Amino acid sequence: MNIKQIFKNNDEWISEKLKTDKKYFENLYLGQSPEILYIGCSDSRVSAEELMGVKPGEVFVHRNIANMVSNIDLSAMSVVTYAVTHLKVKHIIVCGHYYCGGVKAAMQSSDLGILNPWLRNIRDVYRLHKDELNFIVNEEEKYKRLVELNVQEQCVNVIKTSDVQKAYSERQLTVHGWVFDIKTGKLIDLKIDFDNILKHIMEIYRII
Ligand code: CO
Repeated sequence: MNIKQIFKNNDEWISEKLKTDKKYFENLYLGQSPEILYIGCSDSRVSAEELMGVKPGEVFVHRNIANMVSNIDLSAMSVVTYAVTHLKVKHIIVCGHYYCGGVKAAMQSSDLGILNPWLRNIRDVYRLHKDELNFIVNEEEKYKRLVELNVQEQCVNVIKTSDVQKAYSERQLTVHGWVFDIKTGKLIDLKIDFDNILKHIMEIYRII
């Protein structure tokens, strides 16, 4: 990739936008009011806006390795708080993807230095769902299921926060767990039964 080309692309993009709307950037400058917070993986193949077909200003985005919502990650927690209490988003989406390198690494025995504590969170997801996962014989199916269960657990981590609990009861903020299938391009709603999950865990995590 030629870095200079990126600036040429940018110039083309500006004229393309101004061709259809002279006030395009003026309007962007005025502010943002996205209705969605998207938390996804940093993987270069999973380009959040493009796969959802949304425009600048429509989605607040946070990406890290394996779409984690770690309880003590100041960055992720700040994003959630800002999106929920200031931007007042209506939906929070945690979107994982099949063939995620982060999830794959967490399934293997290898010392990855600073990545170890990060990936350990995924190993914890494996431990929580060990009975189900160890029952799956096909390695690819097991890998894909761990991606899904990781999304589910990160959604639970979102719901553990007081800001989300408040918004959930005050204005029905909803949390969604999705997976992007790199092989087909399909975006899949895992249709996670949050009511059922919450019933079992809220006695522990309820803050408000
Ligand atoms: Co990934």
